[in-house]
Amino acid sequence: MKILVNCALPYASGPLHLGHIAGAYLGADIFVRFQRMAGNEVLFVSGSDEYGTPITIRADKEGKSPKEIADFYHNDHLNTFRSLDINFDIFSRTTEEIHSETVSEFFLELLRKGYLVERSMIAPYCPGCGRFMPDRYITGTCPNCGYKDARGDQCDECGKTLDAKDLINPICSICGDVPEFRETNHFFLRLDLLQDRLLQWIDAKRDWRSNVVNFTRNFISSGLRERPITRDIEWGVRIPLEGYDHKRIYVWFEALIGYLSAAKLYFRGTPNPDEWKAYWQDGEVPSYYFMGKDNIEFHTIIWPAMLMGKEGLNLPSRVIANEYLRFRGEKFSKSRGIGFSVDDILKLAQKDYVRYYMASNLPEGGDTNFSMEELVDRVNTEYIDKFGNFINRIVSFSAAHFQEISVNSDYDEDDRSMMDFAKEKFLAWKSALSDAQIKKGLQEWLDLVKYANSYFNRSKPWALIKSDGEGCMRKLYVSLGVAKILADMIYPYTPSSSMMIRRMLGLPGIEPSAREENIFSVQSFRPVKGEPPFRKLDVTAANPNSMDLVVGKVLEVSDHPNADTLYLIRVSFGDSETGIVSGLRDHYDKEQLSGRKIIVVRNLKKARIRGQDSNGMLLAADNGRVVKVLTVPEGVPEGSRVTIGGYPYNGKGTISIDEVHAYSMAAECSSGACRVEASIDGKKGYLEVMGDYVYVSEKVENGSEVR
Ligand code: MF3
Ligand code: ZN
Repeated sequence: MKILVNCALPYASGPLHLGHIAGAYLGADIFVRFQRMAGNEVLFVSGSDEYGTPITIRADKEGKSPKEIADFYHNDHLNTFRSLDINFDIFSRTTEEIHSETVSEFFLELLRKGYLVERSMIAPYCPGCGRFMPDRYITGTCPNCGYKDARGDQCDECGKTLDAKDLINPICSICGDVPEFRETNHFFLRLDLLQDRLLQWIDAKRDWRSNVVNFTRNFISSGLRERPITRDIEWGVRIPLEGYDHKRIYVWFEALIGYLSAAKLYFRGTPNPDEWKAYWQDGEVPSYYFMGKDNIEFHTIIWPAMLMGKEGLNLPSRVIANEYLRFRGEKFSKSRGIGFSVDDILKLAQKDYVRYYMASNLPEGGDTNFSMEELVDRVNTEYIDKFGNFINRIVSFSAAHFQEISVNSDYDEDDRSMMDFAKEKFLAWKSALSDAQIKKGLQEWLDLVKYANSYFNRSKPWALIKSDGEGCMRKLYVSLGVAKILADMIYPYTPSSSMMIRRMLGLPGIEPSAREENIFSVQSFRPVKGEPPFRKLDVTAANPNSMDLVVGKVLEVSDHPNADTLYLIRVSFGDSETGIVSGLRDHYDKEQLSGRKIIVVRNLKKARIRGQDSNGMLLAADNGRVVKVLTVPEGVPEGSRVTIGGYPYNGKGTISIDEVHAYSMAAECSSGACRVEASIDGKKGYLEVMGDYVYVSEKVENGSEVR
């Protein structure tokens, strides 16, 4: 059977972090690998979403063209996916010509059929930037709740959906100018005409996850209105009509068509360039879409509406949306230094460990949290202790005592129950994965791993070998058969390790099959003795940064009641506050410190200093005479995390002052500014924050200690 699997096109405007991987790509890759094991012919599609205002804004900031930014991140995404063994058949781009051609066709046909209409509307125009601005780049006071920093599309405080023109005292968040509201013409998608059909369609999706169905049903029931699908911008797919040179098609309308144009591109140049039709027009071929939850409405309302209007192409058969993976409760953010990018994590753990932990922790039914400690723990105790050791014990014992281990069907009751259990778990795994329940499939595998260990221990082949060679071989045969099933079942999750284990078991290096006949079908094993397959992770060796360095803002400074040289400083981290005792009284006035951004070691062991609590320490450069606090570039918000030589805080808990000093932090001054260097992992690394450095607030003597 053929299956189409589409995975949301990531924006080519920044690097991918683990939140993206958990939201869409890893689950999709596992699903696709499983479908292939099950004998299906899968077309696995994604690509770079290269248009959209965030790219334009980044380009303006960096003095580059949007295309240069998109080129860079397109390649970056390709590398990221490769480094995690996430293998699309095609990872296309929305700047491909075939894409704009496909979008034009779509546009013209919807226009012809009356699903697109032209209307005049009022939109914010910024004289400072010299262009129309998207609503969300206009900020002002919310007319509903009075919140001062509401965005033009939505108020983050009260959640109300807004129009930029409703804001009180609107300003442009890019240049600070006051926007005008000008009249402009745009094309609108007539969602209102399709409301009833969409509702019927979603109501029939009884086997979909409830998060997707409920969200969609509520959205449609609250009434669908026409939506503008063009914008007054220059970076985007052109409108295929005369007289619209300064307008483009809105990114969300055209990016969705990227699934289709990518499939066309994939088959172009093959002997059968029309083969994409088999995946898009044959009503028997199911299509699966994987994405994060913020993409749901586009895939269950806009895209189906576009397809209904266009006619002749398959609607999604299944939309699978994950919730968010969080990092200590917060959303991953590369720019704010929260969580790991894919590159960061791969420096600390090999790809299969990352895939294993992430798969076991996918936010399928609700948000989940990523933690490095949990990763290390799960990998060490489950993947390595239980699975890796099981494989290693059987393989080394078998190889030490037998050339070849052949089937011997004189099974005892325990052998039978082991084999029955293996079959039961294999089938449960298969049905979970057929339903894209990635975590559940892994759980079935883990159940089997545990049972297999206890079977092997109970069997005591090391005792049997002395008295009953036949019986010993039989126990090993059953164990090896189970080992093979385990290697097969883990293949979609950790493909390269699975292949390695197949080699240890003496099996051919071909991708495994999920056909039931393949259970216990190997007639004889010739295991290959070698090194233990996996090496355990050590959290501190993996990530040596035990300092939770955070940007704080000084709220209040007061004198320590019992010490002349000490201040009591209250610090805000944005969402929390703390109190610190600091020895800056001889070096700074209270006013000089108030309101300032500083760097705090937040996980320093709590101390009582002359009768006052201190929760952390504030870092300053100090050569014994001159003392200057550390600071961050303009625009870095309080709460941002500081990394050392690229390492984020490893989450190991509190540290002592001696441990802080072991980092030998010092000012490194050149060309008027001083950065901060630390020694970590036997190397030197800079303190970095939001893609920039931490600096000493004023020039100090080169090499001044930072403490
Ligand atoms: N670029 C969007 C995001 O990252 C997803 C686009 S999915 C597509 O949220 F189908 F529209 F391409
Ligand atoms: Zn502006």
